[in-house]
Order: sequence, then structure tokens, then C-alpha cells
Amino acid sequence: MIKVGVLGSGSMGSGIAQVAATAGHNVVLVDNNPEALNSAKSKLQKIMNRLIEKGRLDEQTAADIQERISYELSMDAFASCGLVIEAIIEDLDIKKTVFRRLEEIVSSDCLIASNTSSLSISAIGSALEKANRFLGIHFFNPAPLMKLVEIIPALQTSDSNLILARETINSWSKITVLAKDTPGFIVNRIARPFYSEALRMYDEGIADFATIDWALTEIAGFRMGPFTLMDYIGNDINYKVTETVYASFFYDGRFMPSFTQKRLADSGYYGRKAGRGYYDYSEGAEMPLANKDMDLGKQIADRVVVMLINLAADTLFMQVANESDIDLAMTKGVNYPKGLLAWANELGLQNCVDKLDALYDEYREERYRCCPLLRRMARNGQTFFNK
Ligand SMILES: NC(=O)c1ccc[n+]([C@@H]2O[C@H](COP(=O)([O-])OP(=O)(O)OC[C@H]3O[C@@H](n4cnc5c(N)ncnc54)[C@H](O)[C@@H]3O)[C@@H](O)[C@H]2O)c1
Repeated sequence: MIKVGVLGSGSMGSGIAQVAATAGHNVVLVDNNPEALNSAKSKLQKIMNRLIEKGRLDEQTAADIQERISYELSMDAFASCGLVIEAIIEDLDIKKTVFRRLEEIVSSDCLIASNTSSLSISAIGSALEKANRFLGIHFFNPAPLMKLVEIIPALQTSDSNLILARETINSWSKITVLAKDTPGFIVNRIARPFYSEALRMYDEGIADFATIDWALTEIAGFRMGPFTLMDYIGNDINYKVTETVYASFFYDGRFMPSFTQKRLADSGYYGRKAGRGYYDYSEGAEMPLANKDMDLGKQIADRVVVMLINLAADTLFMQVANESDIDLAMTKGVNYPKGLLAWANELGLQNCVDKLDALYDEYREERYRCCPLLRRMARNGQTFFNK
């Protein structure tokens, strides 16, 4: 079994190291900050203890997992690794510098991957001498719990290395989907309207946060409403992803961020971690009540769902991923109640087109333009998965 290197022991790197060690690999976890290494180690200890308490792991297995991980300050420890996954700060120049240095240390056939959420894999790969062994391996947070991993070949990645990397991640009890190197890959691209259309309806005064959250959980069946979820993720982080995706799509109106969220992020109203976001989390604060008007709720739920379906269809249209990977990505990566393409079939493709056209007619904004593939398939009486 190959030795696995993980660079960066923050939220993602520590989780990825746990996943690899649980799958039986010896893991080298490197961070240039000793405090980050210590906190990763004690975090893993706590997680293991919790799993033992819950009866999910026996003590010996937990001890073995922890023993398989070594914590190091220097990348020199990666010398004997067969795969290194990078999970450091989201900065193209820093990542490129680090990869140049890494390539001097590892063997020429060592697979090298980035866990970046928003940078171009091919752009990072351009720093490498031997970029045919480089690719994106994008885990979701928290890595040990989320089943989905997006696999993103760079322009430079060879087919054999892509297959090898995917097989390795599959053997870690993960579900992998293949995505083209495009902004947001699959999940972070398609999921944008879940937040932005909810914000838009709030901005227009159609409903308040609590009512929109109620409609999307109780009527549409999402596990968490968009405002509750943004408060969990952090408005600083969620806003940054939206802004990056918007810029990466050359300012396509479909991905336009919201001033409301920007204002919250700028004011430090990050959400739960700040005690204040769309909701007030201070002690004794009461959660506002939703207006449970079913007609209003259905209008809200439908609007968000068709916007999500439109982007899922567009992701297929632009050949970023295939139909089953698109639906798997959203159900396994962000726990959507249904795959969006299957959802489109259920609602009826023509019905989705009509709803999008009605929004476009009303607003005359790019964000509501219907995906040509969706329109074409509706016109031809086709359905997804079964043309
Ligand atoms: N947080 C998420 O939800 C999430 C999800 C998927 C992917 N990602 C991506 O994963 C990567 C890491 O994100 P994170 O949230 O774990 O960040 P984080 O800030 O929690 O951790 C980053 C770690 O990298 C270390 N580091 C920074 N520069 C380094 C260097 N030159 N050498 C060694 N260590 C260095 C830092 O000390 C820190 O411990 C980013 O590219 C991010 O886009 C994040």
C-alpha cells in the first residue's frame, strides 16, 4: 500500500489524513505551523474517542489509525510517498511555489493532487515539471463524513494517472465523480442559486429568512434552509466562493453575488461562529417564526429548485460531467434530497422551462436564461437518463 502525504493540517488536510489512515495507508501530515499540527493531532484523538464511545470503532483500530499518521514540519518527509494531496491556503501563487518545491522531493511517479475548491487545476499544474501526474482531488467538509470526492484532471493529466488516482480514492470508501476543470467543478457551480436565489427573494421582499428556510426544508425537502446553511458555512467563506465563481465565469449574471450577503460578511456577521448572521445566535435570542403560507412557500421552493435544475442541465450541456455524476455530486456532496436531473424529470422538463421563461420575462436578466439543452430536450419530449 502506498504511503500518502497530506500537506496542510487544517480543516480539510486533517480530515483527509484521517480518511487515508482509516483506509490503511501510512500517512505523513505536513504543516509549516506546529500549532496547526498539534491541534490536528488532538482533534483526531477526540474524534477517535467519540467513535469508540459510540461503538463505531474498537480501541485497537482507533490506536492503529492514529499510529499510522506521522506529523511533520518539513515536506522532506514526503520523499517516499506514492500520493501527496495538498490542502493549504487557497492562493494560486503560494500553491505553485509549494508544488515546485514538492516536485524536488517526491519520486517522478508520485501522484500529486490539490484539494482546491476554486482555483484552476490546470493553472496550478502549470507549475510542475511533470504535470501528467497532477490532478484535482476535491473532498467536502468534513472529509471523513462526506462521501463525495470530485476528481478533476488538469489539461496535463495522463489517463493512466487519472485512473490510478480515482481507484485509490474509491478504495477509501468514497464516491468519486469526474469533473472538467471549470469554475466550481460540479457542486460549487450548481449549488450557487440555493444561496443566491434565496437572497434575491429576500432582497425583493418576497419573504423573510425564516420563511424561505421553512419553504426549502418543509416543502422542497432540503436538510437545511439556505440562510441556516450560510450561517453554518460562514458568510465570509460562502460569499468568497460566490464572488470567485462569479469572476471565474467572466461575470455571467447567473452567478452574481448578493449585496445583502456582502454586507453581512463585511460587518463580521459571519453566522454561527460570530454569534450573528442572518439569525441571532446569542444566548436567549429567539428564532423568528416563518410565515407558513403554502402558496408562498411553494412559489419560493419552485423558484430555487428550477434555478438549480437549470444549472445542473447547463453543467451537462457544457460537458463538465455526465448525468449520473451530476446527480450523485449533489446528493452525496451536499445532501440534496434528490438528484437535480431526476428532479427535473419528475417536475417535467417543459414545466421547468416554462418557470424559467416566466422569470426571464419578468426580470429580463441573464441569471434567469434557460439552458439550451433543457429547452431542446423539453421540445423533443426527452427526459434525462433516458433520452
Ligand atoms: N474548508 C472547506 O470547506 C474546504 C472544502 C473543500 C476544499 N477546501 C480547500 O482545501 C484547502 C485548505 O482549506 P482548509 O479549509 O483546510 O484551510 P485551513 O486554513 O483550515 O488549513 C490550511 C492549513 O495549511 C497550512 N499551510 C499554509 N501554507 C502552508 C505551507 N506553505 N506549507 C505547509 N502548510 C501550510 C496552514 O498552517 C493551515 O494549517 C483550500 O485549498 C480550500 O479551498 C476547503
